[in-house]
This record gives sequence, C-alpha cells and structure tokens, in this order.
Amino acid sequence: MVPSIENCRFSTRLPSRKTFRPGAILIYDRRLEGISPSLRHFIRQFKNRYGVKAGESLKSLDHFPKHFSKISKIIGGVKKQEAQVIALGGGSVGDFAGFVASVYHRGVDFQQIPTTWLAAIDSAHGGKTALNSGEVKNQLGTFHFASKIYLVKTILKQQDQRLERQAFAEHIKHALLCRRPWAQIEIMGNSLEKSDLWAQLRESIEVKYSILKKDPKETKGIRSHLNLGHSMGHVFEVLLNLSHGEAVALGLIFALRFSQKKFGLSEKTCEQWCQLIVKTSAPRFKALQLRSQKELKLNQVKALLFKDKKESSRDGVGFVFLQAKGRPKKVNLNVQSLLSELKRQGFIR
Ligand SMILES: NC(=O)c1ccc[n+]([C@@H]2O[C@H](COP(=O)([O-])OP(=O)(O)OC[C@H]3O[C@@H](n4cnc5c(N)ncnc54)[C@H](O)[C@@H]3O)[C@@H](O)[C@H]2O)c1
Ligand SMILES: [Zn+2]
Repeated sequence: MVPSIENCRFSTRLPSRKTFRPGAILIYDRRLEGISPSLRHFIRQFKNRYGVKAGESLKSLDHFPKHFSKISKIIGGVKKQEAQVIALGGGSVGDFAGFVASVYHRGVDFQQIPTTWLAAIDSAHGGKTALNSGEVKNQLGTFHFASKIYLVKTILKQQDQRLERQAFAEHIKHALLCRRPWAQIEIMGNSLEKSDLWAQLRESIEVKYSILKKDPKETKGIRSHLNLGHSMGHVFEVLLNLSHGEAVALGLIFALRFSQKKFGLSEKTCEQWCQLIVKTSAPRFKALQLRSQKELKLNQVKALLFKDKKESSRDGVGFVFLQAKGRPKKVNLNVQSLLSELKRQGFIR
C-alpha cells in the first residue's frame, strides 16, 4: 500500500464504532479512560479491546509473548479477512499495535487514532512499527502502513503543554524539509500561547507524506532525510537522558550549525531557525549545553553512533545536512568529524 495523506481523516470528534469492522480489536492506552468521558465511551464500545500501559516497556521484546497470547485469545474467533487492529494512544501504543497487526496472521488491517501530538505529527504516519530489544530502542520492527489515520482535534487539544512541546521539534523539522514558507511557524516563534498546532497539522504531515511517497520503505536514501536532527539527537537522548522532543531539538540545532559550516546554509536562516527551536522546544538549551560538556564522553558518543542501526554503515555515519530550507543532503561522515564538530559547537570538551 502506498502511504498517502488521503488516508488521513481530520475531524473534531472520534469516529463512530461502525466505522470499524465488527471483529476489530482496540489496543488502547489505559490512561485515556480517565481523560474524558467521550474517550471512555468510545473505548467501551469495543467488545474486543486490550488496554495497555503506554511507554517504552510496552515495546519490550521480553513482554511481547505475554501480550500477544492475550490478544490472540481476544480475537481468536475472528477470521483473517475480518480482523483489524486499531491503535488508540501515543507513539508507543502505535508502534506496539502496528507490530501486532503486522505479524498476526502475517498481517491484518491496521488503523490508528493518535492521541499525542508527537504521534499525530510523526509516528502514526510512515508505517514503521517497533519493539525494543534490551537496551536497544526500535531494534525490531516491520513496515506496516495504517490504512486510515484519524486525527481528532478534541483529543489532541486536551494535552498539556509538556506533551505539546514534545512534538514541536518534529514539526519544525518538517518545516525545514519543505521549501514553502510557513506563516504559522513564525507566529509560534512570536508567541507559543497563540500557536495552533491543529491549524498546521495537515501542512506538517504533508511534508512527511511527500517524502514517504518517493521512498516508502527507506530504500532510496530519500526517506532518511526525515532523520534530520536525529543522528546527534539520538546521542543526546540516550547519553543525557532527555525526552525525544528535547533531544531532537538539540540535534536540529547541531545539524543547522554544522550545515552552515559545511554546506553554506546561510547564517540568517541558521540563526532564525535555531532561535525558534530554542524558544519552542529547548528552553533549557544553555543549561543542557553545559550539562553536555560535563557528561558527554567521546568514547560513549563514538560507540553509540556506530550502534545506531539507522545511521551507520561501514563507510561511516550517515548524517543529514540542510543546504537551504527544503534542500536536505545525506552524507556519510567519519566519526571523527562529528566529534570535532561537537567540540566546535561547545557540546563536548
Ligand atoms: N514509528 C515511528 O515512526 C515513530 C516515530 C517517532 C517516535 N516513535 C515512538 O513513539 C514513542 C513516543 O511517542 P509518544 O510520546 O506519543 O509516546 P507515548 O505513547 O508513550 O505517550 C506519552 C505519554 O502521553 C500519555 N498520553 C497519550 N495520549 C494522551 C492524551 N491525549 N492526553 C494526555 N496524555 C496522553 C501516555 O499515557 C504517555 O504517558 C516512542 O516509543 C518512539 O520510539 C515512533
Ligand atoms: Zn523523532
């Protein structure tokens, strides 16, 4: 199936139960039952349902057999053609439920109702499912595209600012990967309170789909442009124990400043976007840079860059630069040049 924005449904309310197959199983974040009566009502309409605790432990390979056997019992009587898995939750629930849908009877229909901004902007689109093996995140996974993705305004708007902030870096990444100017993003820079992610959601997702359409399964080197800010972001996330959003924010700043030095990204563009990133997604930037100087160790960074399955090969480490807004370029770098740049930018002593 070709990933397309046509599979996204934008609406104010949750879809009706009848939208889904009678035998569908809802895999949902248990916390959502307590968040609003409409969510609780929606969940209870599914006879086949499986509540989970969201987070990384849900994606643990060790716990998977236990979950899978319970899920199989719930939908054991449903024929393959009638089976359907619906994910209701953030990125962890989507990654887990997508994996279940991709392996149950060698793959059944999968649909998503993302409930965090991060999932709505990023993880629900693109068909990547994932489990964690031991300490290694997303080590195990499949491509299994959701046939429909329901983006529900009332649910997304219920989140507090902390969860909203988690998604800003990915949203800004989309803006950087697209050539068109975005007026709304400038409003975000002026006033976070006045920013409206819902109003920008379609535009943001369209950037991801424009890339997915050209390279759905990451075989042509185009989809990897979506890793902008992530090679170093991942290092910050793991070694400084940051949230994904904050780590990607730092990773984007690193990539922009490196791009200015190496690929002539204009100083004006670089600084304008770095300021926006600090304001929206990394308000503790200066403190984090100081922590990074104290805590980041060269050997650890090196080891991690090589371990990251997405980014490394025998030729070096894949790194996405930005030559200008909307013009990414992936280059294989040797690790030493990344370490020197970390020093130059003051992230490491
Ligand atoms: N598949 C992909 O392409 C992809 C891309 C990016 C991230 N991811 C994965 O996504 C996960 C992170 O996503 P996430 O932050 O959405 O994770 P999450 O599912 O862990 O949700 C974060 C927290 O928000 C809570 N929550 C969910 N919906 C809520 C709502 N409407 N209101 C209030 N609280 C709510 C959850 O209970 C949880 O505590 C990671 O596991 C990451 O690896 C996957
Ligand atoms: Zn990300």
